[in-house]
Amino acid sequence: MDKIIDIQNLVKQFNGFTAVNDISFSVDQGEFFGLLGPNGAGKTTTIRMLYGFSPPTRGKLRIFGMDIITDFRRIKARIGVCQQDNTLDPDLSVEQNLHVFAGYFSIPKKEAGKRTEELLDFFALSHKKEAKVMELSGGMARRLILARSLINRPELLILDEPTTGLDPQSRHQVWEKLEDLKKTGLTVVITTHNMEEASRLCDRLVIIDHGKILVNGSPKALIERHAGSNIIEIEGPDQTLIEYVKENDIEYDDLGRRLILYETEEKDLNHTIRERFCNEKCIYRNSTLEDVFLRLTGRGLRE
Ligand SMILES: Nc1ncnc2c1ncn2[C@@H]1O[C@H](COP(=O)(O)OP(=O)(O)O)[C@@H](O)[C@H]1O
Ligand SMILES: [Mg+2]
Repeated sequence: MDKIIDIQNLVKQFNGFTAVNDISFSVDQGEFFGLLGPNGAGKTTTIRMLYGFSPPTRGKLRIFGMDIITDFRRIKARIGVCQQDNTLDPDLSVEQNLHVFAGYFSIPKKEAGKRTEELLDFFALSHKKEAKVMELSGGMARRLILARSLINRPELLILDEPTTGLDPQSRHQVWEKLEDLKKTGLTVVITTHNMEEASRLCDRLVIIDHGKILVNGSPKALIERHAGSNIIEIEGPDQTLIEYVKENDIEYDDLGRRLILYETEEKDLNHTIRERFCNEKCIYRNSTLEDVFLRLTGRGLRE
C-alpha cells in the first residue's frame, strides 16, 4: 500500500523546549489515523508540521512521497485542514467563506459555486448559505470548517479536535459525516480527546505523551493489550479483596477509593471476583480505549 504520510524521527523544539521528541509513524492510503494524548502532549505541534505551518527542527516528513519543505506547494494543493481554533471569517456569509477559500486554491468561480453547493448540502448547511458566521451555532460552524477544508477535494484531511466542545447531537452528526468521507477512500488524520470518537473512527492510532509515542495500533489491539477484555471497578475495596487480588496475580490499579481489576483470557474475573466480592458498588464492564489512555498517560491533571 502507498504511504500517504511517512514520518521518521521527527523533532520540534521551541527555544530549547522539545514539544515533539523523535516520533516516527506512517499513514497508509485510505486510513483513518488518530493522534491521542493529554493536553500539551504535542498533538497540535505534530499536526502543524504535517500541514506545513511549522517547519520540523529535525527528522523526515514526507507526504504523498514528497518532502514537506521542498515540495510544500504541491502537497498543500492536495490536503485539507481543520485547525483546532475557529478560523472562519466572521464578517462573511457561509457561502462567501467557502468562495474565498476556493480562491486560495485558484478554483474557477463556476466550479467553486458547484462545490460550495455540494458541500453545503452534504453538511446540512444549505439553508444557512446567506447567514453570517456569527449567526451559526457551534455545531454549524464546525461543519462549515469541515466543508471549507474539503473545497479543494483533498486526498488527505487533517483534523485537529474537530468535535471538542460540541453537544452530543452535533458530535454524532460530525461522526456520521466523517464516516461517509471515509467510505470515499479519503485518508484522515485526526486528534481528539474523545475516546469514543477515536474507537469509532480510527483504524489505527498513536497515543503521545510529552512529545513521545507510547503506543501505536488499532483501538481493538490496544485495548486487548493494555486493558484486557473486561474490567471490574470496585468502590471502597476491603483488605481481603486487595489481598486476594495480589495473591492471585490479577492485574489491577489501586486508585485508593476505587480498585480497577483487568480481566484477561487467563484470568476470568466474573466467577472469581464478581460473585465473591461484589456488591452494588461494583461495575463489571467491557474495557475501553479510555482505560488504555488512562493507564498509559496516568490520572494526574495536566493543567
Ligand atoms: N509556538 C510555541 N512556542 C512555545 N511552546 C509551544 C508552542 N506551541 C506549542 N508549545 C508547547 O509545546 C507543547 C505541546 O503543545 P501542543 O502541541 O499544542 O499540545 P496538544 O495539542 O497535544 O495539547 C506544550 O507544552 C506547548 O506549551
Ligand atoms: Mg492541541
